[in-house]
Amino acid sequence: MEYNNEENICILNHPLIQHKISMLRDKNTGTNEFRKLIEEITLLEGFEALSDLPTVDVEIETPIEKCITPVISGRKLAVVPILRAGLGMLGGILALVPSAKVGHIGLFRDEESHEPHEYFFKLPSLIDERTIVVLDPMLATGSSAADAVSRIKSHGGRDIKFVCILAAPEGVKKLHEAHPDIQIYIGHIDRELNENAYICPGLGDAGDRIFGTE
Ligand code: URA
Repeated sequence: MEYNNEENICILNHPLIQHKISMLRDKNTGTNEFRKLIEEITLLEGFEALSDLPTVDVEIETPIEKCITPVISGRKLAVVPILRAGLGMLGGILALVPSAKVGHIGLFRDEESHEPHEYFFKLPSLIDERTIVVLDPMLATGSSAADAVSRIKSHGGRDIKFVCILAAPEGVKKLHEAHPDIQIYIGHIDRELNENAYICPGLGDAGDRIFGTE
């Protein structure tokens, strides 16, 4: 794990994550394997992203004796995938925290301006009391991510973590500058965006590869 000089930007350079990202990049990786890899990487990233969840000591009786031992405290997590590619990551976080509530943010990118437009928005109740994990595998221009976080904040969300798999330097800068208070977890920062706002070398269109569309 490496903090990219900036507090709140965490690059998860664990060999298992990097190996699985290489498999994702391969254009010959099929839909089934691609989905599994996205979930596995998210689980590994989520393990780190959730390492500061608050705990409280409770009394438990083991078969041997009573003991005081920690459990996760406070309201349950809210996981918010950005549709549609973020949906592919959901299982990875739910494998770690099965009782998490799930919100959805539907944003589509204008093909020309690359600016995000909302078509769906629903968050779990009491969002201001929850740790919120926003999911999108590709942090490209950063516009959708920054916009999604702004919308969550405007509904009261405060404790926000953004988890992606690949990022472009431009996207990291945009999201961090717009929301320096949120923690950003990244599998790998790639070289650049191309003229169509695709991450290079990237992995192509994450949504298409997760859902088997073209
Ligand atoms: N979204 C994708 O799916 N891929 C990219 O490279 C950029 C944004």
